[in-house]
Amino acid sequence: MSLQELSSIPRPRFADGQLRRLLIDGQLVDATSGKTFECLDPATGETLALIAEGDAHDIDLAVAAARRAFDHGPWANMKPFDRQVILSRFADLVDERHEEIACLDTLDMGMPLVRTLGNRRRAVGMMRFYAGLTTALRGDTIGNSIPGEYLTYSLKEPVGVVGAIIPWNNPHIAFIWKVGAALAAGCTVVLKPAEEASLSALLLGELLLEAGLPAGVVNVVPGRGEVAGAALAAHRDVDKIAFTGSTATGQEILRASAGNLKRVTLELGGKSPNIVFADADLERAAQGAAMAAFGNSGQVCSAGTRLFVERPIFEEFMERVATVAEGLKVGNGLDRTTQLGPLVSAAQLDRVTGYFAIGREEGASVRSGGRRLDEPDLANGYFVAPTIFTDVSDDMRIAREEVFGPVVSAFAFESGEDLVARANDTSFGLGAGVWTRDVSKAHRFAKSVRAGTVWVNCYNLMDPAVPFGGYKMSGYGREGGVHQLDEFLNVKAVWLQTD
Ligand code: NAI
Ligand code: MG
Repeated sequence: MSLQELSSIPRPRFADGQLRRLLIDGQLVDATSGKTFECLDPATGETLALIAEGDAHDIDLAVAAARRAFDHGPWANMKPFDRQVILSRFADLVDERHEEIACLDTLDMGMPLVRTLGNRRRAVGMMRFYAGLTTALRGDTIGNSIPGEYLTYSLKEPVGVVGAIIPWNNPHIAFIWKVGAALAAGCTVVLKPAEEASLSALLLGELLLEAGLPAGVVNVVPGRGEVAGAALAAHRDVDKIAFTGSTATGQEILRASAGNLKRVTLELGGKSPNIVFADADLERAAQGAAMAAFGNSGQVCSAGTRLFVERPIFEEFMERVATVAEGLKVGNGLDRTTQLGPLVSAAQLDRVTGYFAIGREEGASVRSGGRRLDEPDLANGYFVAPTIFTDVSDDMRIAREEVFGPVVSAFAFESGEDLVARANDTSFGLGAGVWTRDVSKAHRFAKSVRAGTVWVNCYNLMDPAVPFGGYKMSGYGREGGVHQLDEFLNVKAVWLQTD
């Protein structure tokens, strides 16, 4: 029996090896250049689909469609209730079709089915949350001190055409995170998925049409980052870019946005500290610290990749983490017993194995892993063993740079040492974890660490209602929570003389 059959999910139509086209103005169209690119399964190297490769010309067409839909289409005049009906219908479709969507992501970028399927509650929950927010937009009535009788109030208006550029590490969630919020605010969207994982974005685009979204409101244009992505970021008729990805690309996007001063939100990388005090529940902390670093094969922006452990328990604790790491089942994500899938691409494999070499050259010790897995059933894919480095100093590259693979650098710290400065000694500031039974210690750390999210005795929890985003070079703007809608709204002040 094939793994696909074993998974008990039928092969998704979008992975049938055929051509998948761009979605522009409600139509499936070829790229104007006629170019396509191959989409591969990183677990097997098998071709899943050919994808039309959009370039600057296709981005122009998509932006024009989004502009028409924003300025003149039915979307522009729809009442919040009617927008909510469409978004709710889309949430229902995501719920009904979630197995197919999840399986598509598993095939496309390797995340194990247990994890992609486990995203159902999050995907559907986010969409329902955004649907709810469509009827919750409001301005303020503001008292002013001008002599005479003047009423002042504010209106919140959609910012306009949004360019959404998303990465490959959690594709269907990234799509909903951006598109859901933009639509709730009344914007229109051109989305450029990552070249490594475009399939679920194309499927979700079609489901939006099925839910009744008018043509042109959401357009999906796969293509290369430096071509289609760059064209979107620089486009004069795009009002805002919402980006998730690497810090270097975030900086490119910011530069490209200068031409028309478009608004930008950036959700970028991290090198997040995860701190374990001796008084923690060590079994729970070891499991939590391992998955904070290795979950999704480490391809998580907020992964806890700098593990600080209090000296007296260091050896014992690292033994526990190594036991968890070595017990993780690495393999094809279609197998429901797989816990870690492959890395997304050959490039990512090179990058991660490159850091194995860098860590060794810098003098760190490999406590666990540190190698590609090339046993016969894994040899055609991009698999690596979950890896623990010890004897790491704070200035080594493996302590400072985002690896984006299942790699953790572990450090011992002295009891009584003020860890805050060390935790904050990074250019990033996305997440942070702390494990302790001492509430005041936890709170002191949570208050002083410079990061957008702090997890205490847990790690990487996310919820539609809770804001997520970075400090420092992890970016700016918040996704999730009611705060996110403001990222897609303009504020207009109105003055009215009333006497
Ligand atoms: P990337 O940041 O280059 O790609 C993310 C998205 O941006 C993709 O859709 C890509 O096509 C697009 N893009 C690339 N160049 C662009 C440009 N000049 N203008 C506009 N859009 C552009 O990341 P990539 O190349 O996939 O991965 C490289 C490294 O970046 C990874 O090894 C990892 O360290 C980091 N990364 C971090 C992520 C995070 O969530 N923190 C997500 C993805 C990658
Ligand atoms: Mg792929």
